Formats: sequence, structure tokens, C-alpha cells
Amino acid sequence: MKIIRVDAERSYSVLVDAPYENALQEHFAGRERVAIFFSESMKNRIPQFSAGETEFFYFPLPDSEGAKNAAVLLQVWNWLGAAGFTRTDLVVGIGGGAVTDFAGFAAASWLRGLDWIAVPTTVAGMVDASVGGKTGINSDYGKNLIGAFHSPISVIIDPSWLQTLSDRDFAAGLAEVVKTGFIADGEILELLQGKTGADIRKSLPLTIELIERSVAVKAKVVSGDFKESFDREILNYGHTFGHAVELASKYSLRHGECVSIGLMYVAELSFELGLINQELLDRHRSVLKNLNLPVTYKDGSWLELLASMRLDKKSRGKNLRFVTITEIGKTQRLESPQESALLKAYEKVSK
Ligand code: GLY
Repeated sequence: MKIIRVDAERSYSVLVDAPYENALQEHFAGRERVAIFFSESMKNRIPQFSAGETEFFYFPLPDSEGAKNAAVLLQVWNWLGAAGFTRTDLVVGIGGGAVTDFAGFAAASWLRGLDWIAVPTTVAGMVDASVGGKTGINSDYGKNLIGAFHSPISVIIDPSWLQTLSDRDFAAGLAEVVKTGFIADGEILELLQGKTGADIRKSLPLTIELIERSVAVKAKVVSGDFKESFDREILNYGHTFGHAVELASKYSLRHGECVSIGLMYVAELSFELGLINQELLDRHRSVLKNLNLPVTYKDGSWLELLASMRLDKKSRGKNLRFVTITEIGKTQRLESPQESALLKAYEKVSK
């Protein structure tokens, strides 16, 4: 097991490669109530916990992004109220990024903040969503537009959950690993070089190394800029167009698949503007395609996607902002690129 510390709002540990039931048990002692949030489809895998006098409440959620809306949250607030949750009680989210984002926001908003723990079960959840204290739900106008920064008290990454994933979901999560490689850790790209999702899945040590490296980058970035005043934005590389695709596809594509398309979009945009060379553009395409991730999106409408990008959290007024790289590990911001360049990049990823 490896312990990675995050110092953001509060200090907490991300346990990588830890048996989650044992690790959770340590946090149950002395709690009167614990709420366990999980996806409905995982119900047969959620154990009946017990710990002294602690009372456990199990809250199944609609699968994936279906959980992350105001109607479900209102229902959950009513559940927490009816069960009498107070500030010394605990919330646990066991699931993919949607479950941990939702559980974290339920914890953040109930009584202005309960302790919560994330137990991510997907690659994307392990390397990105569960770490860093971003919690929230979606709005009709875009992904994660409603939320709060609220650090968990612990993140427990147990790779045995990865067995529950389809090959498609496993590969989709690797898009966030690829992103981390481009923004901060070129060794990740070396480890991924020439590999398919199946190659990675076959090797638990390689999977764990990729998770550890990605979490280490994320922990460092969020420790330096918890509330995303600037530096944390780099974790959004590929997400400006990616989130727009996610909304346009009505969440029918996986988050990681949209990030993959978004990475290709920002690489094309950067190439168009002379920020990266052909080799770095091709490197984006080859690593993503080897993992069988999509690099094009043909079903969108440009004006709709552009309107969604304008609501991106990095936008300032009318000005679109993108995280770009000039070389591996070297990030910068691109402010208000010309619409002609934006459109050209779209043409490249939509054919
Ligand atoms: N997923 C990007 C961040 O946590 O900042």
C-alpha cells in the first residue's frame, strides 16, 4: 500500500492499493451514523457494515450521471434529515466519479459540511474524481456547474474494484491518466507507449503504477491550489471541449471518452495555432487510439458545442480559456482564441 498526502483545506491520505473494508472500519469507530452511498447496480457488492453502536444507512443512487441532479439531492437531504444526521456523522461514497461527486456534495451541503470518505471503484474515479475535494451535481446547462470544494477525510483506492469494470469503462478511465501524462508526468506516456487497454488491464503492477503516478500529480496540484485560482486548472486539460461533448451526447458517452475527444480537440487547436508540433499532435492521437479511445465526435452541432464551452468554469465573461501544453509537462493558458481556429480544430475532430 502507498499513502499519498493531500494538504488542501484539510490534510488527508489517499491510500493506494488498500483493502477498503479494513480501511473504512478505522473511520467508523465512535460515529453514531454512517451514510453509505452507492450505485443501484452495485448493490450486491456493498457489504453490510457493522461497528459497535454505529447505525448504517444505505442510499442507492441512480447509475452514473443520473445521480447528479437536484431532484436526487433533494431526496437525499430528506433522507439525511429523517435519519437525524448531525455534524459528527459520516458520509461514504462507494462508486465511480458520479457517486463520489454526489456523496461529497451531499456531505458538503448537509449542515454545511459532514466528514466524508471516497471509495472510488473506477479508473477515472481513482485517478481524478475522488481526489481533490471537488464535489457537485450537474445543471441542465452543463456538467458539474453546481458544487462545492469539500475535502474528504480519506480516499481509499482498492484495485479489486477494477474487476467490476467492462473493458470499455476501464479504457475510458485511462484518458485521465493520459491527460496527467501530457500535463505533468511524461513517464506515464512512456509506460503507456504502444499499450492497449487490455495490455494494461492484464498487469496489475502497471495499473497500480499508473494510478499512483496520476494521484501523486493530482495531490501535488490540489495541495497548491485547492480552490482552482489558477494552477489547478491544468487538470482540466482536454475538458473544455470534453465537457461540451459530454453534455451534447446527453451523457451517453463515458466521461473519459469525452476527455479523450477533448484532448484531441485541444491538441488540434494548439497545432493550428503553432503551439505544438506535428510530433506532439500525433502523440496525442496514437496514445489515445492505442487505448481504443475515441478521437472524433461526429454527432454534434458546432454552435451548441461552442455555447457549452462558453459556460466552462475557466471562462471569464465572454472569453474562452483553454489549458494547453507547449511540450510534455509544460502547460499554459490560451485566452480567447480566434473563432476560425476553434472551428478548424472542430472540423478536424468531427470528420
Ligand atoms: N478534475 C479536475 C480537478 O479536480 O480539478
